[in-house]
Amino acid sequence: MRNIVIGFSKKSLRLGIAGLIIIVSIGWIGISQSETIIGDPAQGVNDTILGSKHDFSGLNRRAGVVAMPTVAFSDYSNPCVYCHIPPEQADSDAIAKGAIEGWNRYQPATDSFQLYDSWFIDSKTRTPSPISLLCLSCHDGTMAVDMVVFKPESFDLKEDTAMHMRINSEDNTISCGKCHNGRVAHDISIKYLAQDLRNDHPISMRYAGLLRSDEDFRKPHTAGGFDNGVRIYEGRVECASCHNVHDPSKDLFLRVNSDVLCQTCHTK
Ligand code: HEC
Ligand code: HEC
Ligand code: HEC
Ligand code: HEC
Ligand code: HEC
Repeated sequence: MRNIVIGFSKKSLRLGIAGLIIIVSIGWIGISQSETIIGDPAQGVNDTILGSKHDFSGLNRRAGVVAMPTVAFSDYSNPCVYCHIPPEQADSDAIAKGAIEGWNRYQPATDSFQLYDSWFIDSKTRTPSPISLLCLSCHDGTMAVDMVVFKPESFDLKEDTAMHMRINSEDNTISCGKCHNGRVAHDISIKYLAQDLRNDHPISMRYAGLLRSDEDFRKPHTAGGFDNGVRIYEGRVECASCHNVHDPSKDLFLRVNSDVLCQTCHTK
């Protein structure tokens, strides 16, 4: 797998507007699903993720507290690296370091996930795919939100005094639930899916409506999904089929409003 750097580097910022447009468009054409997307704060200056719940920069200011970045978790001064590989590590072998393929996060303990299962489900899956492991690496509550494979080069390790808290409703000093208990701050437990996914929508299974006609499922418009934005990843349903963390315009980052989401795929 080849790592590509998206957008432009800091150096190319000096090239002026015309140069930028060309570089940006080349960068975007180069993106395909299997390639690692590198988080570049220069490219991300206007990114839609900024100010959303997945933007860990400026969280203290937004929430009006002083205890999140630098105390609960490290402030890497780059909102992209909590998920994406920093640009200067584009050529590193992240997988050898234990990364989820394509992302700047460690593999959760995949053998401990209990996926949805039932005797009538078409295709059984035992391990979530990388793009869903990305989400679970925070939302299963076992790893700190700042536990990234590569910290940005600019990050001074001496500043790493954070408590490295996890999205977990427990009342202890390694869990955001210490404050996010519904009294000190909003209750975080609903964002905490844990490792038992049997009560959640199934993920990482083959989409039944893809290759053959199945009267229970609609056929996607393209291999990548449906015209309304609901996505199919290499024939599978993933967390990101329904959610787009880069689009905060709808509640809960849903790709389409919940009243039409289910019927996009299910006929009943
Ligand atoms: C919470 C995790 C997360 C953070 C933080 C994040 N991204 Fe992403 N990003 C994703 C996911 C997931 C995708 C894949 C979306 C898809 O394939 O549908 C993605 C895709 C992208 C893409 C590919 C374009 C596309 O829509 O397929 C670019 C470019 C990108 N991110 C840039 C950035 C930049 C720049 C930042 C920081 C400002 C950033 N991201 C922060 C999770 C994140
Ligand atoms: C780096 C850690 C991290 C990763 C990776 C991550 N999330 Fe989150 N997510 C969070 C945090 C923190 C919140 C906010 C929790 C809160 O408000 O209490 C959140 C909130 C959410 C919410 C609720 C939004 C709302 O408005 O309340 C959804 C939905 C969500 N994430 C989906 C995803 C999906 C899908 C992925 C994978 C593509 C993902 N997350 C990856 C940390 C993460
Ligand atoms: C010292 C207490 C404290 C700790 C620890 C803490 N928070 Fe918060 N957080 C707050 C307060 C107070 C608010 C603002 C009130 C609210 O949203 O309930 C807040 C708000 C937030 C928001 C909403 C901000 C916005 O603009 O959307 C998110 C997201 C969040 N916290 C995530 C986290 C995560 C993730 C952790 C653990 C890694 C964490 N917090 C740990 C006190 C804390
Ligand atoms: C089939 C579509 C679908 C898939 C797949 C899916 N979700 Fe969701 N998700 C939803 C819908 C709809 C909601 C809001 C209603 C609800 O809470 O059930 C939601 C809610 C959430 C919330 C917020 C709960 C709240 O009320 O604040 C989080 C966090 C979340 N999903 C993360 C994930 C993660 C992580 C995955 C993959 C393991 C995932 N979702 C897979 C559709 C989906
Ligand atoms: C991206 C397509 C997609 C979307 C959107 C979607 N589903 Fe599903 N759903 C599936 C697939 C595929 C299965 C697994 C079917 C199988 O393999 O038998 C499934 C299974 C289920 C199951 C388990 C039933 C069984 O056969 O065991 C339930 C319940 C369910 N979905 C409810 C929902 C709800 C509620 C929504 C809207 C919030 C929704 N789905 C949105 C594709 C989707």
